[in-house]
Amino acid sequence: MQLALDLARRGEGRTRPNPAVGAVVARSGRILGKGFHPLAGEPHAEIFALREAGEACRGSDLYVTLEPCSHQGRTGPCTEAVIAAGVSRVFVGCSDPNPLVAGRGIERLRQPGIAVTTGLLEVPCRRLIAPFAKYIRSGLPYVILKTAMTLDGKTATATGDSKWITSEASRAYVHQCRNRFDGVMVGVGTVIADNPQLTVRGIADGRNPVRIIVDSTLRLPLSSRIFDEVQDAPLIIATTAQGARQKVELLRERGVEVVELPQEGDQVDLPALLTHLGHRGLQSVLLEGGAKLNGEMLRHKLVDRMMVFVAPRIVGGADAKGVFDGCGVAQMEQSVKLIDLRTSRFDDDFLIEGEVELCLPD
Ligand SMILES: NC(=O)c1ccc[n+]([C@@H]2O[C@H](COP(=O)([O-])OP(=O)(O)OC[C@H]3O[C@@H](n4cnc5c(N)ncnc54)[C@H](OP(=O)(O)O)[C@@H]3O)[C@@H](O)[C@H]2O)c1
Repeated sequence: MQLALDLARRGEGRTRPNPAVGAVVARSGRILGKGFHPLAGEPHAEIFALREAGEACRGSDLYVTLEPCSHQGRTGPCTEAVIAAGVSRVFVGCSDPNPLVAGRGIERLRQPGIAVTTGLLEVPCRRLIAPFAKYIRSGLPYVILKTAMTLDGKTATATGDSKWITSEASRAYVHQCRNRFDGVMVGVGTVIADNPQLTVRGIADGRNPVRIIVDSTLRLPLSSRIFDEVQDAPLIIATTAQGARQKVELLRERGVEVVELPQEGDQVDLPALLTHLGHRGLQSVLLEGGAKLNGEMLRHKLVDRMMVFVAPRIVGGADAKGVFDGCGVAQMEQSVKLIDLRTSRFDDDFLIEGEVELCLPD
Protein backbone atom coordinates (compact mmCIF):
# COMPACT_ATOMS: atom_id res chain seq x y z
CA MET A 1 0.00 0.00 0.00
CA GLN A 2 2.94 2.30 0.65
CA LEU A 3 4.03 1.73 -2.93
CA ALA A 4 0.49 2.46 -4.14
CA LEU A 5 0.57 5.74 -2.16
CA ASP A 6 3.90 6.71 -3.70
CA LEU A 7 2.50 5.99 -7.16
CA ALA A 8 -0.66 8.02 -6.44
CA ARG A 9 1.44 11.08 -5.57
CA ARG A 10 2.73 11.16 -9.14
CA GLY A 11 -0.76 12.20 -10.24
CA GLU A 12 -1.32 14.80 -7.52
CA GLY A 13 -2.38 18.17 -8.95
CA ARG A 14 -3.17 16.63 -12.37
CA THR A 15 -6.33 14.59 -11.79
CA ARG A 16 -9.08 17.08 -10.96
CA PRO A 17 -12.02 16.64 -10.79
CA ASN A 18 -10.86 13.15 -9.77
CA PRO A 19 -8.69 12.31 -6.75
CA ALA A 20 -5.11 11.02 -7.01
CA VAL A 21 -5.11 7.20 -6.70
CA GLY A 22 -2.41 4.53 -6.84
CA ALA A 23 -2.70 0.73 -7.24
CA VAL A 24 -0.45 -2.33 -7.12
CA VAL A 25 -1.16 -5.94 -8.14
CA ALA A 26 0.98 -8.45 -6.23
CA ARG A 27 1.20 -12.12 -5.34
CA SER A 28 3.38 -13.81 -2.69
CA GLY A 29 5.44 -10.64 -2.25
CA ARG A 30 6.03 -10.21 -5.99
CA ILE A 31 4.85 -7.05 -7.69
CA LEU A 32 3.03 -7.85 -10.92
CA GLY A 33 1.52 -4.52 -11.92
CA LYS A 34 1.59 -0.86 -10.87
CA GLY A 35 -0.56 2.10 -11.79
CA PHE A 36 -1.73 5.58 -10.89
CA HIS A 37 -4.42 7.88 -12.20
CA PRO A 38 -2.50 10.40 -14.29
CA LEU A 39 -5.22 12.73 -15.59
CA ALA A 40 -9.02 13.04 -15.62
CA GLY A 41 -10.41 11.08 -18.60
CA GLU A 42 -7.47 8.65 -18.54
CA PRO A 43 -7.96 5.16 -17.05
CA HIS A 44 -8.02 4.83 -13.27
CA ALA A 45 -5.04 3.50 -11.29
CA GLU A 46 -6.47 -0.04 -10.94
CA ILE A 47 -6.83 -0.41 -14.71
CA PHE A 48 -3.16 0.43 -15.34
CA ALA A 49 -2.05 -2.03 -12.64
CA LEU A 50 -4.35 -4.81 -13.91
CA ARG A 51 -3.21 -4.26 -17.50
CA GLU A 52 0.44 -4.48 -16.52
CA ALA A 53 -0.14 -7.70 -14.59
CA GLY A 54 -2.19 -9.21 -17.45
CA GLU A 55 -3.04 -12.91 -17.05
CA ALA A 56 -1.10 -12.99 -13.76
CA CYS A 57 -3.98 -11.10 -12.11
CA ARG A 58 -5.87 -14.37 -11.60
CA GLY A 59 -5.66 -15.23 -7.89
CA SER A 60 -3.59 -12.13 -7.07
CA ASP A 61 -3.95 -9.32 -4.52
CA LEU A 62 -4.83 -5.77 -5.47
CA TYR A 63 -3.75 -2.87 -3.25
CA VAL A 64 -5.53 0.39 -4.00
CA THR A 65 -5.37 3.68 -2.05
CA LEU A 66 -9.07 4.46 -2.66
CA GLU A 67 -12.14 2.25 -2.93
CA PRO A 68 -12.60 1.23 -6.61
CA CYS A 69 -15.46 3.04 -8.35
CA SER A 70 -18.63 1.13 -9.16
CA HIS A 71 -20.34 3.72 -11.36
CA GLN A 72 -20.01 4.67 -14.99
CA GLY A 73 -18.09 7.95 -15.23
CA ARG A 74 -15.85 9.14 -18.06
CA THR A 75 -14.32 5.64 -17.79
CA GLY A 76 -16.07 2.32 -16.96
CA PRO A 77 -16.54 1.04 -13.41
CA CYS A 78 -13.25 -0.32 -12.00
CA THR A 79 -15.05 -2.91 -9.86
CA GLU A 80 -16.10 -4.82 -13.02
CA ALA A 81 -12.53 -4.80 -14.35
CA VAL A 82 -11.20 -6.11 -11.01
CA ILE A 83 -13.81 -8.90 -10.95
CA ALA A 84 -13.19 -9.83 -14.61
CA ALA A 85 -9.43 -10.00 -14.01
CA GLY A 86 -9.93 -12.72 -11.38
CA VAL A 87 -8.30 -10.90 -8.45
CA SER A 88 -8.76 -12.86 -5.19
CA ARG A 89 -8.17 -10.24 -2.53
CA VAL A 90 -8.47 -6.44 -2.53
CA PHE A 91 -6.85 -4.19 0.09
CA VAL A 92 -8.38 -0.71 0.18
CA GLY A 93 -6.75 2.33 1.82
CA CYS A 94 -9.91 4.35 2.38
CA SER A 95 -13.53 4.47 1.27
CA ASP A 96 -14.63 6.96 -1.38
CA PRO A 97 -16.24 10.17 -0.03
CA ASN A 98 -18.01 10.55 -3.40
CA PRO A 99 -21.72 9.88 -2.67
CA LEU A 100 -21.91 8.02 -6.04
CA VAL A 101 -19.49 5.41 -4.64
CA ALA A 102 -19.40 5.60 -0.77
CA GLY A 103 -19.06 1.90 0.05
CA ARG A 104 -20.84 0.59 -3.06
CA GLY A 105 -17.50 -0.27 -4.71
CA ILE A 106 -16.50 -2.44 -1.76
CA GLU A 107 -19.94 -4.08 -1.64
CA ARG A 108 -19.82 -4.87 -5.36
CA LEU A 109 -16.38 -6.53 -5.03
CA ARG A 110 -17.62 -8.73 -2.19
CA GLN A 111 -20.63 -10.00 -4.19
CA PRO A 112 -18.65 -12.53 -6.30
CA GLY A 113 -16.60 -13.56 -3.22
CA ILE A 114 -13.52 -11.29 -3.43
CA ALA A 115 -12.04 -10.84 0.07
CA VAL A 116 -11.91 -7.08 0.71
CA THR A 117 -9.90 -5.58 3.57
CA THR A 118 -10.39 -1.87 4.22
CA GLY A 119 -8.41 0.73 6.16
CA LEU A 120 -4.86 -0.31 5.23
CA LEU A 121 -2.67 2.80 5.80
CA GLU A 122 -5.95 4.65 6.08
CA VAL A 123 -4.57 7.91 7.56
CA PRO A 124 -2.11 8.73 4.74
CA CYS A 125 -4.62 7.47 2.15
CA ARG A 126 -7.25 9.86 3.54
CA ARG A 127 -4.72 12.69 3.75
CA LEU A 128 -3.92 12.18 0.07
CA ILE A 129 -7.53 12.73 -0.99
CA ALA A 130 -8.38 15.42 1.61
CA PRO A 131 -8.79 18.12 -1.10
CA PHE A 132 -11.12 15.88 -3.13
CA ALA A 133 -13.08 14.93 0.01
CA LYS A 134 -13.64 18.55 1.04
CA TYR A 135 -14.49 19.64 -2.48
CA ILE A 136 -17.00 16.88 -3.15
CA ARG A 137 -18.84 17.61 0.11
CA SER A 138 -18.71 21.42 0.18
CA GLY A 139 -17.81 22.64 -3.32
CA LEU A 140 -14.97 24.61 -1.71
CA PRO A 141 -11.24 24.14 -2.27
CA TYR A 142 -9.12 22.61 0.49
CA VAL A 143 -6.76 25.31 1.77
CA ILE A 144 -3.28 24.69 3.16
CA LEU A 145 -1.73 27.73 4.77
CA LYS A 146 2.03 27.70 4.30
CA THR A 147 4.20 30.09 6.23
CA ALA A 148 7.85 30.53 7.16
CA MET A 149 8.78 31.99 10.52
CA THR A 150 11.76 32.57 12.73
CA LEU A 151 12.16 30.94 16.13
CA ASP A 152 10.57 34.05 17.64
CA GLY A 153 7.49 33.69 15.42
CA LYS A 154 8.26 36.46 12.90
CA THR A 155 7.46 36.24 9.19
CA ALA A 156 9.22 39.47 8.19
CA THR A 157 11.38 42.14 9.82
CA ALA A 158 9.84 45.46 10.93
CA THR A 159 10.84 46.90 7.49
CA GLY A 160 8.90 44.12 5.71
CA ASP A 161 11.96 42.12 4.57
CA SER A 162 11.39 38.35 4.51
CA LYS A 163 14.00 37.08 2.05
CA TRP A 164 14.95 34.57 3.10
CA ILE A 165 13.84 33.14 6.39
CA THR A 166 14.21 29.50 5.38
CA SER A 167 16.87 27.38 3.71
CA GLU A 168 17.09 26.56 0.03
CA ALA A 169 15.91 23.01 0.80
CA SER A 170 12.70 24.34 2.41
CA ARG A 171 12.06 26.65 -0.51
CA ALA A 172 12.61 23.83 -3.00
CA TYR A 173 9.98 21.80 -1.11
CA VAL A 174 7.51 24.68 -1.47
CA HIS A 175 7.98 24.45 -5.25
CA GLN A 176 7.07 20.75 -5.03
CA CYS A 177 3.92 21.71 -3.13
CA ARG A 178 2.94 24.35 -5.71
CA ASN A 179 3.39 21.68 -8.37
CA ARG A 180 0.77 19.51 -6.59
CA PHE A 181 -1.77 22.26 -5.83
CA ASP A 182 -4.45 23.61 -8.15
CA GLY A 183 -3.99 27.18 -6.90
CA VAL A 184 -1.62 29.39 -4.92
CA MET A 185 -2.95 32.52 -3.23
CA VAL A 186 -1.52 35.69 -1.63
CA GLY A 187 -2.76 39.17 -0.74
CA VAL A 188 -1.65 42.26 -2.62
CA GLY A 189 0.50 43.21 0.41
CA THR A 190 2.80 40.25 -0.28
CA VAL A 191 3.01 41.07 -3.99
CA ILE A 192 4.00 44.66 -3.22
CA ALA A 193 6.54 43.71 -0.51
CA ASP A 194 8.17 40.65 -2.11
CA ASN A 195 7.40 40.91 -5.85
CA PRO A 196 7.02 37.10 -6.12
CA GLN A 197 6.31 35.08 -9.28
CA LEU A 198 4.49 32.26 -7.46
CA THR A 199 5.42 29.82 -10.23
CA VAL A 200 6.95 26.32 -10.03
CA ARG A 201 10.69 26.30 -10.62
CA GLY A 202 13.34 23.58 -10.52
CA ILE A 203 11.01 20.62 -11.10
CA ALA A 204 11.18 18.43 -14.20
CA ASP A 205 7.68 18.27 -15.80
CA GLY A 206 6.49 20.84 -13.27
CA ARG A 207 3.32 22.75 -14.01
CA ASN A 208 2.19 26.05 -12.57
CA PRO A 209 -0.84 26.35 -10.31
CA VAL A 210 -3.44 29.04 -10.94
CA ARG A 211 -2.17 32.12 -9.10
CA ILE A 212 -4.71 34.15 -7.13
CA ILE A 213 -4.04 37.67 -5.83
CA VAL A 214 -6.54 39.26 -3.44
CA ASP A 215 -6.56 42.98 -4.17
CA SER A 216 -9.72 44.94 -3.19
CA THR A 217 -8.84 48.20 -5.01
CA LEU A 218 -6.42 46.98 -7.72
CA ARG A 219 -3.38 48.66 -6.19
CA LEU A 220 -1.13 45.94 -7.60
CA PRO A 221 1.67 47.67 -9.61
CA LEU A 222 1.61 46.81 -13.32
CA SER A 223 5.39 46.37 -13.19
CA SER A 224 5.06 43.37 -10.80
CA ARG A 225 6.86 40.18 -11.82
CA ILE A 226 3.58 38.33 -11.29
CA PHE A 227 2.62 39.46 -14.84
CA ASP A 228 5.72 37.98 -16.48
CA GLU A 229 4.38 34.49 -17.21
CA VAL A 230 0.63 34.88 -17.56
CA GLN A 231 0.58 32.59 -20.62
CA ASP A 232 2.07 29.64 -18.69
CA ALA A 233 0.79 30.48 -15.23
CA PRO A 234 -2.86 31.59 -15.15
CA LEU A 235 -3.45 34.64 -12.96
CA ILE A 236 -6.70 35.56 -11.20
CA ILE A 237 -7.02 38.91 -9.49
CA ALA A 238 -9.86 38.89 -6.99
CA THR A 239 -11.13 42.42 -6.51
CA THR A 240 -14.27 44.42 -5.68
CA ALA A 241 -16.28 47.16 -7.40
CA GLN A 242 -13.67 49.60 -5.97
CA GLY A 243 -11.13 48.56 -8.64
CA ALA A 244 -10.75 51.23 -11.36
CA ARG A 245 -12.50 50.18 -14.62
CA GLN A 246 -9.55 51.29 -16.72
CA LYS A 247 -7.16 49.07 -14.75
CA VAL A 248 -9.55 46.13 -15.05
CA GLU A 249 -9.45 46.53 -18.85
CA LEU A 250 -5.65 46.87 -18.89
CA LEU A 251 -5.25 43.71 -16.81
CA ARG A 252 -7.69 41.77 -19.00
CA GLU A 253 -5.73 42.83 -22.08
CA ARG A 254 -2.68 41.25 -20.48
CA GLY A 255 -4.50 37.95 -20.15
CA VAL A 256 -5.33 38.30 -16.44
CA GLU A 257 -8.69 37.01 -15.19
CA VAL A 258 -10.14 39.83 -13.09
CA VAL A 259 -12.98 38.67 -10.85
CA GLU A 260 -15.18 41.23 -9.17
CA LEU A 261 -16.51 39.90 -5.88
CA PRO A 262 -18.75 41.21 -3.11
CA GLN A 263 -17.12 43.18 -0.30
CA GLU A 264 -16.92 42.54 3.41
CA GLY A 265 -16.27 46.02 4.78
CA ASP A 266 -14.01 47.46 2.10
CA GLN A 267 -12.17 44.22 1.35
CA VAL A 268 -12.76 41.17 -0.79
CA ASP A 269 -15.34 38.82 0.73
CA LEU A 270 -13.22 35.71 1.27
CA PRO A 271 -16.01 33.09 1.50
CA ALA A 272 -17.33 34.45 -1.84
CA LEU A 273 -13.84 34.15 -3.30
CA LEU A 274 -13.46 30.53 -2.17
CA THR A 275 -16.91 29.72 -3.58
CA HIS A 276 -15.82 31.25 -6.90
CA LEU A 277 -12.61 29.21 -6.93
CA GLY A 278 -14.66 26.07 -6.21
CA HIS A 279 -16.98 26.83 -9.14
CA ARG A 280 -13.91 27.24 -11.28
CA GLY A 281 -12.94 23.67 -10.35
CA LEU A 282 -10.02 24.36 -7.99
CA GLN A 283 -9.91 21.63 -5.34
CA SER A 284 -6.77 22.72 -3.51
CA VAL A 285 -5.20 26.10 -2.76
CA LEU A 286 -1.84 26.81 -1.14
CA LEU A 287 -2.20 30.02 0.86
CA GLU A 288 1.18 31.78 0.93
CA GLY A 289 -0.06 35.16 2.12
CA GLY A 290 1.07 37.60 4.76
CA ALA A 291 -0.40 38.12 8.21
CA LYS A 292 -3.47 40.08 7.07
CA LEU A 293 -4.85 37.54 4.60
CA ASN A 294 -3.80 34.63 6.82
CA GLY A 295 -5.65 36.18 9.79
CA GLU A 296 -8.85 36.75 7.84
CA MET A 297 -8.78 33.31 6.21
CA LEU A 298 -8.42 31.70 9.64
CA ARG A 299 -11.16 33.89 11.14
CA HIS A 300 -13.51 32.73 8.39
CA LYS A 301 -12.58 29.06 9.08
CA LEU A 302 -11.37 28.69 5.51
CA VAL A 303 -8.01 27.10 6.41
CA ASP A 304 -7.96 23.27 6.52
CA ARG A 305 -4.30 22.51 7.14
CA MET A 306 -1.13 24.38 8.03
CA MET A 307 2.50 23.95 7.03
CA VAL A 308 4.76 26.04 9.24
CA PHE A 309 8.47 26.20 8.51
CA VAL A 310 10.44 27.26 11.57
CA ALA A 311 13.96 28.55 10.91
CA PRO A 312 16.60 28.83 13.65
CA ARG A 313 16.86 32.64 13.46
CA ILE A 314 15.71 35.44 15.73
CA VAL A 315 14.53 38.78 14.32
CA GLY A 316 13.29 40.40 17.52
CA GLY A 317 11.43 43.70 17.86
CA ALA A 318 7.80 44.34 18.69
CA ASP A 319 7.05 45.73 15.19
CA ALA A 320 8.19 42.70 13.22
CA LYS A 321 5.25 40.77 11.68
CA GLY A 322 3.86 37.47 12.94
CA VAL A 323 1.88 34.83 11.04
CA PHE A 324 -1.61 36.18 11.80
CA ASP A 325 -3.00 39.70 12.13
CA GLY A 326 -6.37 40.46 13.64
CA CYS A 327 -7.37 40.56 17.27
CA GLY A 328 -6.76 36.87 18.04
CA VAL A 329 -8.59 35.05 20.81
CA ALA A 330 -8.96 36.20 24.41
CA GLN A 331 -8.54 32.86 26.14
CA MET A 332 -6.06 30.07 25.42
CA GLU A 333 -9.02 27.72 25.43
CA GLN A 334 -10.36 29.45 22.30
CA SER A 335 -7.11 29.02 20.38
CA VAL A 336 -7.13 27.17 17.07
CA LYS A 337 -5.62 23.71 17.47
CA LEU A 338 -3.77 21.57 15.00
CA ILE A 339 -4.11 17.79 15.02
CA ASP A 340 -2.66 14.88 13.00
CA LEU A 341 0.75 16.50 13.48
CA ARG A 342 3.85 15.68 11.46
CA THR A 343 7.33 17.14 11.61
CA SER A 344 10.15 16.96 9.12
CA ARG A 345 13.48 18.65 8.63
CA PHE A 346 14.90 20.63 5.70
CA ASP A 347 18.53 21.51 6.43
CA ASP A 348 18.31 23.54 9.63
CA ASP A 349 14.58 24.26 9.35
CA PHE A 350 11.76 22.26 10.90
CA LEU A 351 8.45 21.84 9.14
CA ILE A 352 5.44 21.37 11.40
CA GLU A 353 2.25 20.31 9.65
CA GLY A 354 -1.21 19.68 10.97
CA GLU A 355 -4.89 19.69 10.22
CA VAL A 356 -6.95 22.57 11.64
CA GLU A 357 -9.18 20.75 14.09
CA LEU A 358 -12.53 22.34 13.22
CA CYS A 359 -12.19 21.78 9.49
CA LEU A 360 -11.09 18.16 9.51
CA PRO A 361 -12.66 16.07 6.76
CA ASP A 362 -14.10 12.82 8.20
N1 LIG B 1 7.36 34.55 5.96
C1 LIG B 1 6.33 34.26 5.20
O1 LIG B 1 5.94 33.09 5.08
C2 LIG B 1 5.63 35.36 4.45
C3 LIG B 1 4.69 35.02 3.49
C4 LIG B 1 4.03 36.06 2.83
C5 LIG B 1 4.30 37.37 3.15
N2 LIG B 1 5.25 37.66 4.09
C6 LIG B 1 5.54 39.05 4.44
O2 LIG B 1 4.33 39.65 4.84
C7 LIG B 1 4.35 41.03 4.53
C8 LIG B 1 3.07 41.39 3.79
O3 LIG B 1 2.01 41.20 4.70
P1 LIG B 1 0.52 41.53 4.36
O4 LIG B 1 -0.28 41.11 5.53
O5 LIG B 1 0.38 42.94 3.87
O6 LIG B 1 0.27 40.57 3.10
P2 LIG B 1 -1.02 39.81 2.57
O7 LIG B 1 -1.80 39.29 3.71
O8 LIG B 1 -0.55 38.83 1.57
O9 LIG B 1 -1.85 40.96 1.84
C9 LIG B 1 -2.72 41.76 2.59
C10 LIG B 1 -3.60 42.57 1.70
O10 LIG B 1 -4.54 41.74 1.01
C11 LIG B 1 -5.65 42.54 0.68
N3 LIG B 1 -6.92 41.92 0.99
C12 LIG B 1 -8.01 41.95 0.20
N4 LIG B 1 -9.05 41.37 0.78
C13 LIG B 1 -8.63 40.97 1.99
C14 LIG B 1 -9.28 40.33 3.07
N5 LIG B 1 -10.57 39.99 3.02
N6 LIG B 1 -8.58 40.08 4.19
C15 LIG B 1 -7.27 40.41 4.27
N7 LIG B 1 -6.60 41.03 3.27
C16 LIG B 1 -7.27 41.31 2.14
C17 LIG B 1 -5.56 43.80 1.54
O11 LIG B 1 -5.23 44.91 0.70
P3 LIG B 1 -6.43 45.73 0.06
O12 LIG B 1 -7.30 46.15 1.20
O13 LIG B 1 -5.79 46.82 -0.68
O14 LIG B 1 -7.14 44.76 -0.82
C18 LIG B 1 -4.43 43.51 2.49
O15 LIG B 1 -3.73 44.65 2.90
C19 LIG B 1 5.58 41.27 3.71
O16 LIG B 1 6.56 41.84 4.53
C20 LIG B 1 6.00 39.89 3.28
O17 LIG B 1 7.39 39.80 3.10
C21 LIG B 1 5.91 36.68 4.75
